Amino acid sequence: MITHEPNPIYRAAPSRYENMPYQRCGKSGLLLPRLSLGLWQNFGAVDSLANARAMMHRAFDLGITHFDLANNYGPNYGSAESTFGQVMADGLNHYRDEMIISSKAGYDMWPGPYGVGGSRKYLVASCDQSLKRCGVEYFDIFYSHCMDPDTPLEETMGALDYIVRSGRALYAGISSYSPEQTRKAAAILKELGTPLLIHQPRYNLFDRWIEDGLTDVLDEEGVGAIVFSPLSQGMLTDKYLGGIPKDSRAARADQIYLNENDISEQTIEKIRALNELALERGQTLAQMAIAWVLHNTTVTSAIIGASRVEQIEDSVSALQNLQFSNEEIATIDSIVK
Ligand SMILES: NC(=O)c1ccc[n+]([C@@H]2O[C@H](COP(=O)([O-])OP(=O)(O)OC[C@H]3O[C@@H](n4cnc5c(N)ncnc54)[C@H](OP(=O)(O)O)[C@@H]3O)[C@@H](O)[C@H]2O)c1
Repeated sequence: MITHEPNPIYRAAPSRYENMPYQRCGKSGLLLPRLSLGLWQNFGAVDSLANARAMMHRAFDLGITHFDLANNYGPNYGSAESTFGQVMADGLNHYRDEMIISSKAGYDMWPGPYGVGGSRKYLVASCDQSLKRCGVEYFDIFYSHCMDPDTPLEETMGALDYIVRSGRALYAGISSYSPEQTRKAAAILKELGTPLLIHQPRYNLFDRWIEDGLTDVLDEEGVGAIVFSPLSQGMLTDKYLGGIPKDSRAARADQIYLNENDISEQTIEKIRALNELALERGQTLAQMAIAWVLHNTTVTSAIIGASRVEQIEDSVSALQNLQFSNEEIATIDSIVK
């Protein structure tokens, strides 16, 4: 029998559980780290494997037990999961039982009618592909990445229930569903016997849509919230105050989700004012932006992205001050509204 020895190049830091707080996800038994690491950007085939590995190792050493993926993260589609699988195979998989790994399907993944949407056909096939790329036997959380208006919600939730019952995942989640869709999804899953664990919406100082009904639904249904893009893809940091750095997301030619036009003079004015407030609090703007999303009592965890190890270290330090005075909240509201 061949036994698997952990790769001697990676041994997790013995101190990894000393500083990271873990919060219960809704009314489930699962605790999530207040910060999770997302592999949407900077972990693709075009990026440095050594840098990706260093970021994953540093995150885990700092107590970030949760890594968030999706079938189409890259570029190219699938390649972030392949990178993740390589780093797992290099030794991180020795810690599999200490990790929460999630993936998703919903947006377009492969050509034809079965590579997009919310059908049982697509979700189950995509989950199987993702498991292979990640080199894991199961996901901890599997998500419907987006609501598909052309597929009955019963079918999409039935697929998540099947994915859990067949052992492909332990918990079910949804992403970017509206409050009404979330309530319906939770009811269907409850009836099926696989409770809805978690919702993954965008939430940051510039995008507060979840406050308009979604958080109420999540609280009432006992569902956790893990919010994405807490830094608005890097805009809620001091990096764009002096122009657009060459090594920033907004300057990257291979990605379409943030570009120079998003960084208008009006936005920069708000960022500058927020940056001043952050400095008064003794934080970087990135830290204050993360603290602000975690200050919302519905939020279980914030999924950060990163392009280098230092950013992960900076972001984790946000956890040292999650408190806001009423005056600070009022100042923030007046700046961003
Ligand atoms: N469910 C969904 O539909 C969905 C959609 C989007 C994202 N997500 C999830 O959420 C994760 C995070 O999204 P995101 O990458 O947009 O998150 P984000 O945390 O808002 O932005 C990450 C970017 O901010 C910059 N950054 C991070 N930490 C910094 C720091 N301490 N100081 C200065 N700059 C810093 C880096 O930009 P540079 O690259 O410019 O250095 C980094 O790439 C994704 O990986 C994915 O897992 C889910």
